[in-house]
Amino acid sequence: MTTKRIGIFTGGGDCPGLNAVIRAVTKTAIFDHGIEVLGIEDGLQGLIENRLRPLTSDAVSNILTTGGTILGTSNKANPSRYCTGKNPDGSPVFTDVTDLCIEHAKYHDLDAIVAIGGDGTMSSCKGLVEKGLRVIGVPKTIDNDLWGSELTFGFLTAVATATDALDRLHTTAASHHRVMLAEVMGRNAGWIALHSGVASGADVILIPEIPYDLVSVCDAVVARSRRGKRYSILCIAEGARPRDGAQVARAIDPTSPDPVKLGGIAEQLGAQIEAHTQLETRVAVLGHVQRGGPPNAADRVLATQFGHHAMNLVAAGAESRVVVMQQARVTDIPIEDVIDRQRTVTHDHLLLSAARAVATSFGEP
Ligand code: F6P
Repeated sequence: MTTKRIGIFTGGGDCPGLNAVIRAVTKTAIFDHGIEVLGIEDGLQGLIENRLRPLTSDAVSNILTTGGTILGTSNKANPSRYCTGKNPDGSPVFTDVTDLCIEHAKYHDLDAIVAIGGDGTMSSCKGLVEKGLRVIGVPKTIDNDLWGSELTFGFLTAVATATDALDRLHTTAASHHRVMLAEVMGRNAGWIALHSGVASGADVILIPEIPYDLVSVCDAVVARSRRGKRYSILCIAEGARPRDGAQVARAIDPTSPDPVKLGGIAEQLGAQIEAHTQLETRVAVLGHVQRGGPPNAADRVLATQFGHHAMNLVAAGAESRVVVMQQARVTDIPIEDVIDRQRTVTHDHLLLSAARAVATSFGEP
């Protein structure tokens, strides 16, 4: 199969390293394979609306180190279930616009598409793949929860950002003798909380995979205070939940492939800790700061390797594969394998035992 021209887009939430992948794919395409590249703007929204532009090697020069994505992104544009309006009761009207996307891909003579996104984006490509479009996926997410890959680019930068914030909270908590809670992102996976919590020496780390017991969390804080440690640092994943309760959502967006927007658990837990322990408590929600800014060196390297591998797959005529990291090697697996699955922290993960060994509490009874 001869590939002459491809499209590339970034879908879902942004993360540090997207531009490094766009650069690697485009330069590999042009220099190694003589293949033209068109950038699809704002994720699959651009394919629906026929907004594509040529990417030359000049266009991707000087973007390796920059955050965000030069192509823009969208986390709502699923062509099989695209929101085209509202019903009288306010509920969204969904329309299948996959044929329109295929028409636009044919109009631009695209032989394949490189989709840089998370599991939501890979699911959104399903309808296009079924209609014959050749898609190669490159996984991105700060959450590090893509099934089948032990690492996704963006994660290590987000962990570094969260760790820096936790270090700063540490000094102010110590000065004021306070209990300080930091809420970090990660959806239903505790990877960011676990890694940044361990890196910053948090006293308590709460992750979705280990529902916490409120009394145990308060006991851990009070025990420190009795030992003369007049402050505590708690690192809370946004998806953490009490053993007898549910996750906290800040919003529900029915038009998004990922409708539940988590957030607010630290505020809730902070109030409970203060009421139970009488210790002064403050809460910091790190939010989208974790997704912004330049990728760190490790993410630049990983993104370049992923982009290069993806483009070589396209040039070799591969279909429906997603690039992954397995046993520290860049390889690829079928896209279907990663759809609707998440890689979460397993209870036997070695980092949990290392953290417990240095007296970190996970809020277990
Ligand atoms: O998946 C990446 C992520 O940043 C999650 O950690 C977070 O829950 C979500 O996206 C936030 O989404 P939005 O940008 O729509 O608020």
